[in-house]
Amino acid sequence: MPPQNVATLSPGKGKQEIELPIVSGNEGPDVVDIRSLYAQSGMFTYDPGFVSTASCKSAITFIDGDKGVLLYRGYPIEQLATRCDFMEVSYLLLNGELPTPDQKAKFVDNIKNHTMLHEQLIKFLSGFRRDAHPMAVMVGVVGALSAFYHDAMDVSDAQHREQSAFRLIAKLPTITAIAYKYNIGQPFIYPHNDLGFTENFLHMMFATPAEQYTPNPVIVRALDRILILHADHEQNASTSTVRLAGSSGANPFACISAGITCLWGPAHGGANEACLNMLEQIGDVSRINEYIARAKDKNDPFRLMGFGHRVYKNFDPRATLMRETCHEVLDELGLHNDRLFKLALELEKIALEDDYFITKKLYPNVDFYSGIVQRALGIPTSMFTAIFATARTVGWVAQWNEMISDPEQKIGRPRQLYVGAPRRDVP
Ligand code: CMC
Repeated sequence: MPPQNVATLSPGKGKQEIELPIVSGNEGPDVVDIRSLYAQSGMFTYDPGFVSTASCKSAITFIDGDKGVLLYRGYPIEQLATRCDFMEVSYLLLNGELPTPDQKAKFVDNIKNHTMLHEQLIKFLSGFRRDAHPMAVMVGVVGALSAFYHDAMDVSDAQHREQSAFRLIAKLPTITAIAYKYNIGQPFIYPHNDLGFTENFLHMMFATPAEQYTPNPVIVRALDRILILHADHEQNASTSTVRLAGSSGANPFACISAGITCLWGPAHGGANEACLNMLEQIGDVSRINEYIARAKDKNDPFRLMGFGHRVYKNFDPRATLMRETCHEVLDELGLHNDRLFKLALELEKIALEDDYFITKKLYPNVDFYSGIVQRALGIPTSMFTAIFATARTVGWVAQWNEMISDPEQKIGRPRQLYVGAPRRDVP
């Protein structure tokens, strides 16, 4: 009998059995450590989309998709979203513990020190077309930060990594806001360091030189919650992209820019924009059944955007909180009769009662509601994914830093199952 913490693999007739260690984490499924598999058997594993593969060890975020649990550093998202602000959650993700009041004040100060952009970077931005998608601008401008901060880009130096983390977290709202202002042809609004992180973000988006902007506290709280709910999400596609880019020793600005690129896709962070566009396309409650039928049709590529998740198979706890915020904001702004919101609620009801969605465990995800909230806040649809990227930057940076500090870290280099032509000679 093999010891209990070992998995035995029979690689085929006549071949010797292989023992692979089973490793337990603090929560979640055990993993079979297959690092010696190739050396022992000459075989690789095959797992497109990483459906059964843990790509790293991590102590940052835990998800139990069957139970609808999301923990940042052990704390349930429901508690963080209702009792903390985005700065506290950012400190927690980066440092592992919630800050004391002094630690928070110092952290907020550090972030405020870095909110401005180099003026030359603003000139770089003005090379974009006015109608450029904000995510295109973000990919370019965040990557371009690496041309400005040569003083702190030694990724093996923990202080340099911390400095880059502050710069990225502080500058993302400024970059997002100027991408918006550039798009609508308004002058850029400089950061105002007397304001809190989220208020300042709204100020840079909505103030003009001609008019002060005094944000409604309900709106500040709603945006802060959007930032908290999107701050990290374990080894999702964009985070894995950041880790893979960083595994070669690439600088943090280039890595976060790679993460933004991946997030942009409609199956990932682009879903909030795609969801709002879908609601506009459906247009009226009377057409919901037509679209549900399309989503179920195997020959039609149409999917209900904002539904389904690779990990959550019961409910998305972020969606529950975002739904609550949605009601709060629409009530506060007197928009509960909003056409798209009513349509979304009806679509949600019909889909949740439909056998196809029930058997495939497809539930509304966070992005089903976040678009409606952002629209009510006056944020244009094309900006939704940029707001997501601004929030996720802290998670990307925390995960990148964890990877660099991990002594087991190696350059990411997946293998493949080759199905092309065997060796042949040129005629
Ligand atoms: N509408 C209709 N059918 C769907 C949907 C949907 N939104 N999502 C999945 N399915 C079906 C899919 O066709 C497949 O059917 P079958 O088993 O018959 O082939 C089955 O459900 C499983 O889907 P999958 O594509 O194998 O699942 P996945 O885990 O690879 O994909 C997903 C997860 C989120 C990419 C997918 O559900 C999807 O495309 N949803 C819409 C986009 C969306 O809302 N994305 C935001 C995710 S949350 C924000 C974030 O964290 O990025």
